[in-house]
Amino acid sequence: MSQSPRRNILIVSSDPTLSKLLGLVLTTEGHQVIAATTGEDALDKVPQRTCDMVIIDVPLAGMDSYELCRRLRQNSTTRYLPILMLSSKGDVADKLAGFEAGADEYLTKPFDSKELAYRIRNLLLRAQIPARPHAEPLARGQTIAFFGTKGGVGKTTICVNTAITIQQQTRKRVAIFDGDFFFGDIGVHLNLPPVRSMVDLVERIDEIDADLVNQVMVPHSSGVRVLLSPFRPEKADLVTSEHVKRLLDILVVFYDYVIADCHSAYDERTLSILEKADDIMLVLTPEIGPVKNTALFLDIAPSLGVTLDHIHVILNRANSSVGIEPEEIERSLHHPIEFRIVSGGRPVVMSVNRGVPLTIEKPDHPLAREIAHIAAHLIKKEAPRKAAP
Ligand SMILES: Nc1ncnc2c1ncn2[C@@H]1O[C@H](COP(=O)(O)OP(=O)(O)OP(=O)(O)O)[C@@H](O)[C@H]1O
Ligand SMILES: [Mg+2]
Repeated sequence: MSQSPRRNILIVSSDPTLSKLLGLVLTTEGHQVIAATTGEDALDKVPQRTCDMVIIDVPLAGMDSYELCRRLRQNSTTRYLPILMLSSKGDVADKLAGFEAGADEYLTKPFDSKELAYRIRNLLLRAQIPARPHAEPLARGQTIAFFGTKGGVGKTTICVNTAITIQQQTRKRVAIFDGDFFFGDIGVHLNLPPVRSMVDLVERIDEIDADLVNQVMVPHSSGVRVLLSPFRPEKADLVTSEHVKRLLDILVVFYDYVIADCHSAYDERTLSILEKADDIMLVLTPEIGPVKNTALFLDIAPSLGVTLDHIHVILNRANSSVGIEPEEIERSLHHPIEFRIVSGGRPVVMSVNRGVPLTIEKPDHPLAREIAHIAAHLIKKEAPRKAAP
């Protein structure tokens, strides 16, 4: 494994032997070490130095390790620093307390120095800036929205699997924007920790740069990065439709594909996503309610500022035996069905429950193959050039 670039790492430990051992591992990895013996010492040193990561030992003399972690997360200059917590307490409750305090990683002592080195590398890698080199002109990505007029038709499942397939097939930068502001499910589908959300960007909307975007996007092991929706419903209204437009304009500068999952509503924020989308994947199931509402949406789409040419209809659970025939649905919609996805049964639901997308877990499953077809269609498209944000 190649070495990661040299970084400044702050070690906070009141145990001189451990501090020495950590210093040795880090310098062997090529990093620069800053040592602090207490939490107070760490808070003094962090703002003065350019620090890329913090390792906090548990326990510390003086300020509690968890309190230090919380304080780092509360301070605007240290809020997004990767934090690794080291503790001899290995119970789930102890680990959860560490994560709740704001740690990104938790390693129990005694640890293997190779494992420590790997975890540090991964943390630093995930925190890397995704921005294109400055010299490169601002090529703009493609925005794809997954929308449906009814809840539970499979929008999020298809959205997540398509995003991962596009990433796997292109190896380009793929972002998912969770546009279900009240009850976003992307984090659940991908089993992501609720550490940062779009609220962190909205609060600093005028200061957004590559660094901040990178710090707030939550990385998934597939390479896809996610802008999570607000964690609590009461925070959802902090995100306005103007914010949504601005965030999508920014993401499309940094990512080749920005894939948005939408809520089933015609509210301003959802319409802002649809307005920004180059492609709208309109998902329905062969049932009377979704068919009626989808027909209505297609009817009024132009008056909502949505171009019909951007809309691609996906019939999910197309083989449902009690469903309406696809030809009948096309007649009701006055629009062709471009993609059909079968009902994938238990494996689909189980993959959602496990937080491991089907395209990763079972790439040969019929649903995964149909998703690959949708992804291939989207990849072929050349994103239209848009005005700069
Ligand atoms: N083709 C399919 N085969 C089997 N199960 C499916 C299929 N599509 C979706 N599901 C399952 O249906 C459930 C609802 O899917 P999903 O959450 O993707 O819908 P949604 O439209 O995003 O819902 P909401 O409106 O609540 O956000 C999930 O458990 C998912 O696994
Ligand atoms: Mg959903």
